Amino acid sequence: MQLTNHLDPEDWDEFARFVAEFTAEEIQELAQSIKGEVWRPVPDTLKQALQQEGCPEEGSDLLEVIQDYRHNIRPYRVGNTHPRFFGWVQGTGTMPALMADIAISAMNSNCGGRDHGAIYIERQVINWCKQLLGFPSDSGGLMTSGTSASTQYAMQIAMFKKLGIEHKQKGFFGENRPLRCYTSIEGHSSIIKAVQTCGIGSDNLVVIQTDAHNKILLDELEQKIKEDLEQGFKPFMVLVNAGTVNTGAFDDFKQVRKLCDQYACWMHIDGAFGAWMKIAEEPYHSLSAGLELADSLAFDFHKLMYVQFDSGGLLVRDEKFHRKVFTIRPNYLERHGQALAGGDPWFCDYGLELSRSFRALKVWFTFKTYGHKKLGQAVTKNCQLAELLAQQVEHSPYLQKVSEPVSNILTFKIKTEKDPDRHNQLCEKVVSTLQLAGDVVFSLTKCHEFRVIRASITNHRTTEEDIIYSIDRLNQLIQAQA
Ligand SMILES: Cc1ncc(COP(=O)(O)O)c(C=O)c1O
Repeated sequence: MQLTNHLDPEDWDEFARFVAEFTAEEIQELAQSIKGEVWRPVPDTLKQALQQEGCPEEGSDLLEVIQDYRHNIRPYRVGNTHPRFFGWVQGTGTMPALMADIAISAMNSNCGGRDHGAIYIERQVINWCKQLLGFPSDSGGLMTSGTSASTQYAMQIAMFKKLGIEHKQKGFFGENRPLRCYTSIEGHSSIIKAVQTCGIGSDNLVVIQTDAHNKILLDELEQKIKEDLEQGFKPFMVLVNAGTVNTGAFDDFKQVRKLCDQYACWMHIDGAFGAWMKIAEEPYHSLSAGLELADSLAFDFHKLMYVQFDSGGLLVRDEKFHRKVFTIRPNYLERHGQALAGGDPWFCDYGLELSRSFRALKVWFTFKTYGHKKLGQAVTKNCQLAELLAQQVEHSPYLQKVSEPVSNILTFKIKTEKDPDRHNQLCEKVVSTLQLAGDVVFSLTKCHEFRVIRASITNHRTTEEDIIYSIDRLNQLIQAQA
């Protein structure tokens, strides 16, 4: 298949057949891979070859390019499409979104602004999120690349809210006392990244301890805010968790809201995956009580809504202020009020990106196809599987829980190895052995001085059998090391 007609195909029908065959092959491969190994390493020779290969001066037949992809790229997936992938927090992908990805690419819409169909779909998706996640209808928001980007935006908005919108011109460096923000020891690293890159500095991120349930300690939070005020700092933002990355814990949002009101702080919730407990069944639904009280909420569709990467979102209660922070319209972007340059407000007025992809279509296809009830049931099922995992761990002669299964995450350690160094080495060894064998993907985290094994069930394909098999394999491996 040569694309010789000024970069386009000579014959569009022939190209359509070619793409249809390729798409069918991709879907067959995906279906096969779900039954096969979870992951396989990229060979060193291939890594080197890819590193060394220069950009071709002359092109090739598209079939040759696809051949290259078949041999050198496709076999080395991350593995998150597989039912026994429990590493980090990665969704599986939905088939409606797979189709949407083709449509997104064919339409190639720039969703920074202007008046065209894609914009209305993103607005609709944001409206759905407001309804599902309990935000008021006059709040605003946008699709983002993920929770890290959403949290960064929220922090920028909160800074201007505290110090005044005039700092868009004056900059922040004239301020003589630093801003302070607060999160718990369980706060995600994206919060630290935001604090560092927003110019606040991680010295001014006050890290609060948690209780036995991994929830932020409210007394300590208040105490630190008071101390900071006494010392002349400017407390401006509290970042709490709807689902911590290590243990899936939820903070007490209603109490945090009270403190934020009392001390004039912006309340942000990192709901990367946990925000979706709002549409899950009980007892998981109740975890999200008070989510709707936040000034801003960051969340992902590419985790518990199972949509393909990348697809995240941000909701902001004060839509007008959010817009003020990011609006800048040079002459060439001025609105006309009608025709293509109409359609105000534009999504570029709510974030850093002027050129933006049509991510919303993946979410729209997914929500329209399944409805939020079925998606909520999938979230419930993931949480129930985390409970089953906890039971399997409890029954294991080798493993021990280090957290309770609150939502869809569980962390556990090897109880038969008491020496911290040997324990940590053994955890790394069994987790990497399972990965290298293509059997199961768990990841690791830390709890006190121990490396611990962590499973995030963010996977609509996982079954009870997958859970039982995975813990059996862990047991066998640990037994073999004893
Ligand atoms: C609790 C939490 N917050 C934030 C993030 C970052 O999200 P993203 O990867 O979409 O930027 C993650 C990622 O796993 C997470 O689990």
